Amino acid sequence: MALLNVDQLSVTFGGRGRKDSIAVDGVSFTVDQGQVVGLVGESGCGKSVTSLALMGLLPEKGVKVGGRVEFDGQDLLTISRRKLRDMRGSQLAMIFQDPLSSLNPVIPIGIQVTEILQRHRGLKGEAARKEAADLLDRVGIPDPRRRLKEYPHQLSGGMRQRALIAMAVACAPRLLIADEPTTALDVTIQAQILELLKELVDQEGTALLMITHDLGVVAGICDEVNVLYAGRAVESAGRRELFAAPTHPYAHGLLGSIPRLDAPRGEPLRPIRGSINDKIAWADGCAFAPRCDYYTMECLTGTPELTEPRTAGHQVRCVNPVLPKAEVSA
Ligand SMILES: Nc1ncnc2c1ncn2[C@@H]1O[C@H](COP(=O)(O)OP(=O)(O)O)[C@@H](O)[C@H]1O
Ligand SMILES: [Mg+2]
Repeated sequence: MALLNVDQLSVTFGGRGRKDSIAVDGVSFTVDQGQVVGLVGESGCGKSVTSLALMGLLPEKGVKVGGRVEFDGQDLLTISRRKLRDMRGSQLAMIFQDPLSSLNPVIPIGIQVTEILQRHRGLKGEAARKEAADLLDRVGIPDPRRRLKEYPHQLSGGMRQRALIAMAVACAPRLLIADEPTTALDVTIQAQILELLKELVDQEGTALLMITHDLGVVAGICDEVNVLYAGRAVESAGRRELFAAPTHPYAHGLLGSIPRLDAPRGEPLRPIRGSINDKIAWADGCAFAPRCDYYTMECLTGTPELTEPRTAGHQVRCVNPVLPKAEVSA
């Protein structure tokens, strides 16, 4: 049994005369202890809404959440809010896309970090301060002893993001959900933070759900990857398998649109044409069809199912999947 088992999660926004809008539409995946699972896709595909649903942080009004989210055998969607709040402090942690809202503005950073170290790891006084400074150092914050005395507004946005990551690591949670944790940071700091998260996973056995639109991050850290499009998984596979053989035209396009060092010089990058707004409802066919180079009439006749057209465990939601050149010519 995986530590986190997400089964057919759906989130619909609506109510008060508004038309229902389905943000997450039957997403399933698991995360084991010591495993890093990625949720990948363009902005607006449902990544953040998925993570908020897992953490029980969506508003109760005007939002319908369906499916099951089992963490260590308990359904997070049905346990009491109070129990979930307790778990959020100790077993589940999240790094938010927007760091300002999750730091307390009137308490110095150092106290916020040492409080966590005391609560979760029993460290006190100078031992807690030393560990806090060490953590800030490890997320690339220079002069950490001085920074510990400062308030959140005295730090830049990137520094605040790093302080939050330090706090999430300090709890050594069993499950960490990181929503685009490094998007605002430059690449050297990004690499340092991925290293720190990897250490947490390897040493503490933390299960990490890594949410990103950055395939470089996926390549650097994820074991398993779920590619989302318009609220549904369109491809799920191990990282190596996905990078070696992206099979859904959307995943294929995403991977084709990243620069490669081994590409011939002058080879243009090929972004996927159109935007996520050019979609049809999943009920009518494949949401990606309007942007797809491979679409056929069959793509517009009902929802495509997830299948395994190539290898066991490599799931793809497409009626006309991309085959590698070797298989096409064979
Ligand atoms: N509070 C809300 N009310 C209505 N729609 C929302 C709300 N929050 C998010 N959405 C919609 O849900 C979809 C998924 O959003 P989100 O999960 O934030 O995307 P991502 O994190 O992948 O960029 C988007 O179409 C967005 O407009
Ligand atoms: Mg988001």
